[in-house]
Order: sequence, then structure tokens, then C-alpha cells
Amino acid sequence: MIFRQLFDSESCTYTYLLASRRGGEALIIDPVLDRVDRYIQLLGELDLRLLKAVDTHVHADHITGLGALRDRTKCVTVMGEQSGVDVVSMRVSDGDTIDIEGISLDVIYTPGHTDDSYSFLMGDRVFTGDTLFIRGTGRTDFQHGDARAQYDSLFNKLLKLPDETLVYPGHDYKGDTVSTIAEERAYNPRLQVDSVEEYVKIMDNLNLANPKMMDVAVPANLKMGLRQEDLTAMGLAITCAEGITLVGGSSDILVDLRDADEREKNGVIPGSVHAPYPDLDENVHPGGMLHELASASGKRMVFYCAFGERSAMAVQAARNGGIESPCNLTGGIDAWKQAGGPLE
Ligand SMILES: [Fe+2]
Repeated sequence: MIFRQLFDSESCTYTYLLASRRGGEALIIDPVLDRVDRYIQLLGELDLRLLKAVDTHVHADHITGLGALRDRTKCVTVMGEQSGVDVVSMRVSDGDTIDIEGISLDVIYTPGHTDDSYSFLMGDRVFTGDTLFIRGTGRTDFQHGDARAQYDSLFNKLLKLPDETLVYPGHDYKGDTVSTIAEERAYNPRLQVDSVEEYVKIMDNLNLANPKMMDVAVPANLKMGLRQEDLTAMGLAITCAEGITLVGGSSDILVDLRDADEREKNGVIPGSVHAPYPDLDENVHPGGMLHELASASGKRMVFYCAFGERSAMAVQAARNGGIESPCNLTGGIDAWKQAGGPLE
């Protein structure tokens, strides 16, 4: 197991790099844009392939590294379904899992600091973002923060985890690195309250200044989607309305890049082929399943995913692999549903 807790001294943010083995798939939580070079270097040194980059919420104190990591490593960006970000590759909700080879994170919706705040449980440890800090909790006075919701997230979700669960927060301003649920229950001053009203009163009277990066960071973090329009301009994308007319036809092969649990949760376009995004490189090169399918059938390959980001990256990979005229279904299943496209 590879577990790295990385620190951005500018914003006091902790970033976590996880992998089950050297040479395997990796996942990163809360990467900071200014540190992306370091992450890439470390991934190289540990011989890791970054598969997923996850933010616990829309940050106000630093610019996220999600977009840059997606552009440089082709990883999948992941955030909660409530997040106001324009496009991420994958959205998760309470009870989902985020999976890579050998690692599965349980997704826990913990709103309060923001309305899109999530925590992620990995066996003996929990990544609490800005919901629970070591001897503190995240402020609730902006970005749709809500002290009542946070009380519920803390007392009815995080503090219900086993006592010995390790707590890895999104920030620390004093130099602490890790705690446990039992320790926080006993010694976190914000958790020594008898009622939700008492908690709300504490949070309402913090009188904190806004983070110095807030005016820059929030707008930047809300707009990080890959530009899918570029593919449209190149004639390598179709709209969902055009896509709907292809269902049941024989000129195209629709290829679903999503994970199995996304397919189960949101449905599948009838007649489409499943080729999970993590296996894409292998699949599009000569000898690979998609490459052979495209050349044997002579059909156009139309890629789709949840929001159009993975499929846009797949079009590029398919071209590099020698597949002729690959195509992106703009906006993915999300847009497909809005267009009234059939699903099974
Ligand atoms: Fe935050």
C-alpha cells in the first residue's frame, strides 16, 4: 500500500496520494494546482498511473489541481453530485464507492462546510476534507455552508465511525497530521457541545475573515471542464439529438467508457459496447478490442461517458491508436437523459 500525505504550505492543504502497489493505479485527493509538478514527479518515481483525481468540495483557499492533472495524465476527475463545477468526469453521491485497482473509497456525504462537501472512508482511515479538522471543524459561513447540516455530518456520520478510525483532514494550520475519531470526540473543542443549537452558536460567532484566495479560487474551481467544443469544431463530436438517431442503426458503434457501478446507477444506451476508461490505451491500440472492432466492422466509433469528458479524451487516444474517425457524444449520459435518449 502506498499512502502519501503531501502538504501545500501556501494554503495549509493536505493532499493524499493512494495506490495499492508500485507500478499500479493511483488516486489523489484534493490536489493543489501549484503542486501539480511535484505530484507528477512523484507518480513517476513511484511508477504509478494516476487514474482518478478527487476533490472533497469546491475549495475557496486554493485552486484545485484537478483540471491540470486531467490534462497532463488523462485521469478521471471526481466530485460530489451537488458540486457547482461546470464539468467533472464523474459525480458521486452518498453510498457510492470510488474504485481503482486494489482500493475502494466509501463515499460519505458530509455537507455543512459547503453543500458539496464529502468525506471518503478507506478501511481504517477517513479523509474528512474541511468537515472535520484535528481539534477543529471547517467554517460554515460561505459557499452555502450550514452549521446545522455540519452538526449532523459530524455527530451522525463521522463520529459514528469506529473509535480507532484514523482522521486525515483537508487542512491543518498547526502542524498536526493525523488524529482518530475517539481523540476528536474527546478533545475537539467544537465537538464538546450538548445540542445542535450550541454548535450553531459557536459557528455563527467565529467572525473569520474571508480566505485571501477566495475571489480567485472559487470562480477558477467552478470552471475547470475540458473544452468539448474543440472536438465539435473538428467534426469529431455529435450532439445527443444526433446520437439518438443512431440507436438501433448499423453505421456506428456506441462505446460506454464508464465504470460498472455508474452504468448500473444511470443506465446504458441500448446496443452499446462497454470498454472501461482505465483500459482505454490497451483497447485502442493495434491488437486491442476497440481497435480490432473498428477495423473489422468499418463502423464509426462513438464514445460516451457520464458528462463527455472521458469520451473527449478517448477520441484523442483513439486517434493516437490509429482508429479512424472516432467521435464524442457531447455532454455524455447527463445530456442524453435531458435529450430524452433511450436507456436500459
Ligand atoms: Fe474548504
